[in-house]
Amino acid sequence: MDSRIVLAIDVFDTGYAIDLAKKTGDELFAIKINWPLIMAGGASIISELARFSRVICDLKVADIPNTNSLIAGKVSEKGAWGIISHSFVGSDSLKAVVSSSGDTKVFSVVAMSHPGSGEFIYPNTEKLIGVSRDAGVYGLIAPGNDYEMLSKVRKLAPDLKIMSPGVGAQGGSATGAVKAGADLVIVGRAIYNSSDPMGVVKKLNAEVSGV
Ligand code: XMP
Repeated sequence: MDSRIVLAIDVFDTGYAIDLAKKTGDELFAIKINWPLIMAGGASIISELARFSRVICDLKVADIPNTNSLIAGKVSEKGAWGIISHSFVGSDSLKAVVSSSGDTKVFSVVAMSHPGSGEFIYPNTEKLIGVSRDAGVYGLIAPGNDYEMLSKVRKLAPDLKIMSPGVGAQGGSATGAVKAGADLVIVGRAIYNSSDPMGVVKKLNAEVSGV
């Protein structure tokens, strides 16, 4: 289905994650996984979940080029649709992710959704967008709970996809994020902690389809 919702499954219980993916996969744009699920299930959890939805690996890759290449290559080999990398480590490190990702789409972080992002990342967002564009990324990560920053990123990068976390548990709304420029909206706890995850997904889809 044509959805803008990316479900972040941040749990250690692989059985629960697979069950949730099975139930909601058809209603989502993608499932995003992070270190908790990879630590619990190993890299093969990527291919297991890819049976039900696109999978985005939010590994916030932030290392030297050689290590970044190894990580990106493995994620791509396992069939991930996307990978999230940091950009603050510099052009060479980000380019290594892009060149080792094959068909897997690379999103780079240019502003984050937590308060600490104001300390080092916010003052450098414009530069990080430049580094990201030069490296040839597919998209950017910008906060869905700070509409002013998200609109700024949208204006500075009209040519790139934007995926936004910070909706639900971190205070943003899906409608607000899409209006401010997000193409895709990441929602985690508000879905996987709900007693009716499918109901929340359907509500979010209905909410953003009218924007
Ligand atoms: P919640 O439960 O808050 O989950 O809906 C959000 C998910 O997104 C990740 N996250 C971020 N990822 N930049 C990122 O690349 C960010 O600013 C950011 N904020 C949250 C978080 O790890 C979780 O998986």
